[in-house]
Amino acid sequence: MSGGSDSKKPDTNLDRAAQLLNEAEFSIALTGAGVSVESGIPPFRGPGGLWTKYGEPPLDGYERFISDPKRAWEELLKPTEDWLVGLRQTLGRAKPNVAHFSLAKLESLGAIGALITQNVDDLHRQAGQRELYEIHGNFKLLRCVGCSERFSFENFPIDVKSLPPKCPNCKELIKDDTVHFGEPIPSEILASCERVSERADCILVVGTSATVYPAAGFAVEIARRGGTLIEINPEPTELTELATIFLGGTASAILNDLSEKILRLHRPG
Ligand code: OAD
Repeated sequence: MSGGSDSKKPDTNLDRAAQLLNEAEFSIALTGAGVSVESGIPPFRGPGGLWTKYGEPPLDGYERFISDPKRAWEELLKPTEDWLVGLRQTLGRAKPNVAHFSLAKLESLGAIGALITQNVDDLHRQAGQRELYEIHGNFKLLRCVGCSERFSFENFPIDVKSLPPKCPNCKELIKDDTVHFGEPIPSEILASCERVSERADCILVVGTSATVYPAAGFAVEIARRGGTLIEINPEPTELTELATIFLGGTASAILNDLSEKILRLHRPG
């Protein structure tokens, strides 16, 4: 790497992380709620977390949906719980932040080849991420539980007098694309996540407590077979002891610096 004034800063962990990402054969990223905190969306756990504030929701969400889809749809269209109303409004207004744009830049520089996100907020897509796997779904979409076809929530014709809506193709039940507690991850998304993580020799993990599987398991697997794990988080997590490098701080600040460093590795001078 040649020397702009920045390269002289003793920011060794960041320099090393940039180097490792640059040298990897195939790197992927795994993101969680922390990347969207700076877009105004609260995380789930920890300070300011939704579940810290309101308690964890029931763990049988999918079973409830399937056993009474009409009621689940009524709740989806007109939520009665205040926190859910607030969250919907926040998601609707949120815009990608520097962290999302930096990850898209890392992809366009070839430093990451795919991104798995646990977030349903659509912000990676809005930031221009292309090889994107939304393992917990996307709040702007609906999905057929039968044929798995996805539809835009906004444009799907919903007759409130005849809930739940049915798939125009296979007539099966339509639900929101967001993966509920107890719901299997849609198989094609899971297969894609497995495919890219099996191929990866490096993973950049950003803004996740790494407590939810299978998502966290991709990082664990890559680290266990000797791959590089770079973690970005203001706090240590369950993954930190497996990390090759832990970069403590916010997603936007660190990803911005990291993408700048990688850009310089590509365009020295
Ligand atoms: P969590 O709320 O569990 O963790 C958020 C993480 O973001 C924590 O480790 C924070 O320290 C970190 N964080 C906070 N602010 C940050 C910032 N500005 N920059 C970077 N990191 C920051 O969220 P997830 O790990 O995403 O699943 O949760 C995983 C899954 O748990 C969610 O996808 C959700 C839930 O069950 C479903 O709803 C299916």
